[in-house]
Amino acid sequence: MLGLIKIALFLGVIYICKAAEEDVLDLTDADFSSAIAQHDTALVMFYAPWCGHCKRLKPEYADAAGVLKSDDPPVTLAKVDCTEGGKSTCEKFSVSGYPTLKIFRNGELSQDYNGPRESNGIVKYMRAQVGPSSRDLLTVENFENILAKDEVVVVGFFEKETDLKGEFLKTADKMREEIIFAHSTAKEVLEKTGYKDNVVLYRPKRLHNKFESDFVEYKGEPSLKGFIKANYHGLVGIRQKENIQDFTNPLVVAYYDVDYVKNAKGTNYWRNRVLKVAKEMTEVTFAISDKDDFMHELNDYGIDFAKGDKPVVAGKDSDGNKFVMSAEFSIVDLMAFAKDLVDGKLEPFIKSEPVPASNDGPVKVAVGKNFKELVTDSDRDALIEFYAPWCGHCQKLAPVWEELGVKLQDEPVDIIKIDATANDWPKSLYDVSGFPTIYWKPKDSSKKPVRYNGGRAVEDFIKYVADNASNELKGWDRKGNVKDEL
Ligand SMILES: *[C@@H]1O[C@H](CO)[C@@H](O)[C@H](O)[C@H]1NC(C)=O
Repeated sequence: MLGLIKIALFLGVIYICKAAEEDVLDLTDADFSSAIAQHDTALVMFYAPWCGHCKRLKPEYADAAGVLKSDDPPVTLAKVDCTEGGKSTCEKFSVSGYPTLKIFRNGELSQDYNGPRESNGIVKYMRAQVGPSSRDLLTVENFENILAKDEVVVVGFFEKETDLKGEFLKTADKMREEIIFAHSTAKEVLEKTGYKDNVVLYRPKRLHNKFESDFVEYKGEPSLKGFIKANYHGLVGIRQKENIQDFTNPLVVAYYDVDYVKNAKGTNYWRNRVLKVAKEMTEVTFAISDKDDFMHELNDYGIDFAKGDKPVVAGKDSDGNKFVMSAEFSIVDLMAFAKDLVDGKLEPFIKSEPVPASNDGPVKVAVGKNFKELVTDSDRDALIEFYAPWCGHCQKLAPVWEELGVKLQDEPVDIIKIDATANDWPKSLYDVSGFPTIYWKPKDSSKKPVRYNGGRAVEDFIKYVADNASNELKGWDRKGNVKDEL
């Protein structure tokens, strides 16, 4: 009996999985456009059958499809095999990694899906996608309520169907995850505001100040999306971990106890001082950041601990060089610091261990302060390892690196290591993600450094160097074979 129940349960499970799997539309180049156009909102997974992440996502995706198809309004989940029937569809949507997920509305690509990858998360995320992306404000009360949210709100006012309305609704569809949109065609709202065919960005109440207007009208420049991005943060934005990419260099940041929940007054006290300077210096991006959230970043500026209430100030010029304001915070000093920063009058801060007294071992040691001399400006080829002291793979590589250094000691190639946790280097040239990261730097300074992705045995490195060295090595031919002594 128990056995039978077990079998029944087992079959039941299989049945459910199967059913869910069928809930995912399987599309190819032949039917993609026509099929996807029939759905208001669809999530499409572009995949390759061999990809591990795709295999892991598949059952979660199928479960979510089962739930979402009977939602009101429904969301359709589909998949396209990029290695078989869906090749040109994947190309059309520039799929470059697997799986890639994208959201489509009425057959048109709306946005990339960057949400969760398990079924509940997918369901929740996609439910937030349906329904109108811009709320319709029927009354003045609706309008006032939405402004009371204390968030950035973009509101469209439309007496008639206009091009602006079209652009507004499209933009709302694309940016609905990031920002609150609302619009009104109601007579009482239009009369109250005096707008007829306008889009207005309203700033949150807590950020209102006397240096900038509480709202900005869109004047058609250069696009609504561009307008929102340009005005979202105002003169002095609140820079948080999740929005750092919004703040471009040259950038000056005041770090202090930024807290609009517990200490709005104190937070605005300092922000107002930064605002005063920002108003004068529009060529610099200004921001405030919470010093605890950005402890790590402060450490990168050589600031271990920001004590006291006053903000500490640091920033970057357009080349990404780092600067720290040495004076105690004041409006006058902040102004001078920002000016000197853009005028190139400040000494950049370089995080660095002490420069080694002698550096003639088989492996040369680069630090922040000798990187330029030893690597960037050197007229020798170099193989550089960026390591972290705690990383196991790096520890394993250490003796190999030493041996490589010894073997190549008489060659015009430097074998170099740098502790990436304790030093700066030109980050735009050497993108270090994960340890160890190894780069080949050709002696010809017009050539960019290239990342080394080969094997980690001495022979692998020798082969690479022999092939890529600017001049053929003395001890090895171009193929990496040891040259005959005779
Ligand atoms: C030489 O460098 C190029 C570019 O990084 C690389 O593709 C190639 O494999 C290298 N040669 C050897 C033998 O590793």
